[in-house]
Amino acid sequence: MPTNAHKPPAEPASPRVPGPFTLVVFGASGDLTRRKILPSIFDLWRDGHLPPRFGVVGYARTPMSDDAWRDDLRRGVAAFSRAGAVDDAAWADFARRLTYLQGSYDDPAGFRRLREHLKAGADAGRLGPNRLFYLATPPGAFAPVIRSLGESGLAVPDGAGAWSRLIVEKPFGHDLADARALAKEVRRAFAEDQVFRIDHYLGKETVQNLLVLRFANSIFDPLWNQKYVDHVQVTVAERDGVGARGRYYDRSGALRDIVQNHMMHLVSLVAMEPPVSLEADAIRDEKVKVLQALRPIPADCAADRVVRAQYAAGTVGGEAAPGYRDEPGVADDSATETFVALKLFIDNWRWAGVPFYLRTGKRMPVRITEIGIHFKPVPQVLFGAPPYGPLRPNVLAIRIQPNDGIVMRFQVKVPGAALRLEPYHMDFGYAEAFREGSPDAYERLLLDAALGDSTRFTRSDEVEAAWEFVQPILDGCEGRGGACLAAYPAGSWGPEAADRLIRDDGRGWMLVRRRRRSDVSRGASAAGENAHGP
Ligand code: BG6
Repeated sequence: MPTNAHKPPAEPASPRVPGPFTLVVFGASGDLTRRKILPSIFDLWRDGHLPPRFGVVGYARTPMSDDAWRDDLRRGVAAFSRAGAVDDAAWADFARRLTYLQGSYDDPAGFRRLREHLKAGADAGRLGPNRLFYLATPPGAFAPVIRSLGESGLAVPDGAGAWSRLIVEKPFGHDLADARALAKEVRRAFAEDQVFRIDHYLGKETVQNLLVLRFANSIFDPLWNQKYVDHVQVTVAERDGVGARGRYYDRSGALRDIVQNHMMHLVSLVAMEPPVSLEADAIRDEKVKVLQALRPIPADCAADRVVRAQYAAGTVGGEAAPGYRDEPGVADDSATETFVALKLFIDNWRWAGVPFYLRTGKRMPVRITEIGIHFKPVPQVLFGAPPYGPLRPNVLAIRIQPNDGIVMRFQVKVPGAALRLEPYHMDFGYAEAFREGSPDAYERLLLDAALGDSTRFTRSDEVEAAWEFVQPILDGCEGRGGACLAAYPAGSWGPEAADRLIRDDGRGWMLVRRRRRSDVSRGASAAGENAHGP
C-alpha cells in the first residue's frame, strides 16, 4: 500500500467539553444572564456540547428561590435561545442543574457559602470540579468579585487536573487607569491563561471569517496594503436607542461602548499581519501590534478630529423616537455621545498613509455592521473618461450583520455593440450558501471558554493598547460638556460633521445593499450600493 494513499479528512468532531464542569454566574438575576448566557448554555446543552455532569450556579444580591430563578430563566430561554419554547420534560432535565445563591459581592461569608455549595454539589455527583466563573454583574462589581474569588480560594483549581477560569464581560475598565487597576486585581487572583475577556463581536461568524478570507485565499493578501488599498471604512450602526440601559450607557457612550472594544477588534483583524499559527497567542500577538501602531490622536486635537454626537428626537422606520436625553435613566443635561466618527492611521509598512474611517451610532436608519476595503482606482487612461468613465474603484464589502456575507464590486461591460461599463456586485451570502445557521456569538464563546480556547478572547495587552488609543480622545472631549458634541436627528446617519470628515478627503461613506434570499427567489437584481446604507 503506497504510503501517500489519500485518506479523506476525518469529520471534525463536534466539540464537547471533556470533563464535568460548573458554570457560576455572578449577576445571575440580571438581563445578560436571562437574555444571553442561559439561553446559550441551554442551546449548548441541547446540542450535546456539555458533559452529562454539569450545572449552573447563579449568584446575585437579589433574594430569590431556586424555583423563581428557574422560572425566570425558562422565560428567557423561550424568548432568546435558538431552541425557542421548551417542552416540560426537556426543561425539567435542564432545570434540575440550576441552583441559586443570594449574596453580596464583597462578603466573605457569601463566598464561603458558595464554596460549600460547590463542594456539596461535587460530593453528590451533581456538579463538576472544573469551574467557569462568569462576571455578568454591573462593571462596578467586577473588582470585588475577583477579589472575593481570590480570597476564598475559589480562583485556584480544585485539585490536580481540574481548572478554574474567569470570563469577564466588557467593559474592561471605565478608562485606561481603571482598566490597569482592574488588570492588577485580576492578576492578583488569576493567571492570564485562566482569564477570558469576552467581546461578543469576536464570536460572530463573519468576524471569524475575516481570517479565513484573508489567509486561506491567495488573491487578497497581495492587494491588502497601502499600494492597492485607498482607504478602509468600518461602520457599526444600530437602529435601536439605548432602551432600558440608559443608566449604564450614560456613563459610557459610544467611544467606550463600541469603539474601544468591538471596533478595535475589527480594525486589528482587518489590518494584522498573517500569524505564524492559529494558536491563540500567535493571533493575538499580531492583533496587538496593529493597536500599538495606531497613530495617537492627541487630547488637544481630539475635539477637532473626532466627531461626537448625540441623537435628538426624530423618526426611525416611520415611528417617532425620543431624543437621547429623554430616554429613561439618562441625565437631562447629558453630554454622552451616542455617535462617533473618526479617521485613524496605522503607522506600519503595510498601512502607511491609508486612512481608516470609523463611524458608529445608535438610532441610525438601519442596523448594519460592515467593513469596506476600497481599492485604489486604475489609471484613468483607457476607460476613465466619458463616455466610459469615470470608473468606480473596486470595493470589497464584508458584511458582519445582518444578512452577513461578502460583496465585491468590479467593472463589467454591459452587453451590446457599444462599449459601455457598469459596476457589478458579486455577492456571497452565508444564508444562501449554507443551510446550517450560525450559533449565537455567546454560545460559541462560552463553549470556547469551557474548552480552554482563548483565541476569540481579548488578552490584557490588547485591552490596554486599545485604551491607550481611546484615552486621549476621551481626555480631549469629556469635561467640555456640549462644546464638543453635535446633535443628529434619530433616524439619520449622524451629523453633517461626519460627512465632512470623509468628504474633505474627496471620499464618501458607502455601504452595500446585499441581496436577501427572498430577493433571489423573486429574481431581484444583484446587490448594489448606497452612499449611506442599504
Ligand atoms: C454591546 C453594546 O456590546 O453591543 C451595546 O454594549 C450594543 O450598546 C451591542 O447595542 C451591539 O451588539 P450587536 O451584536 O447587536 O451588534
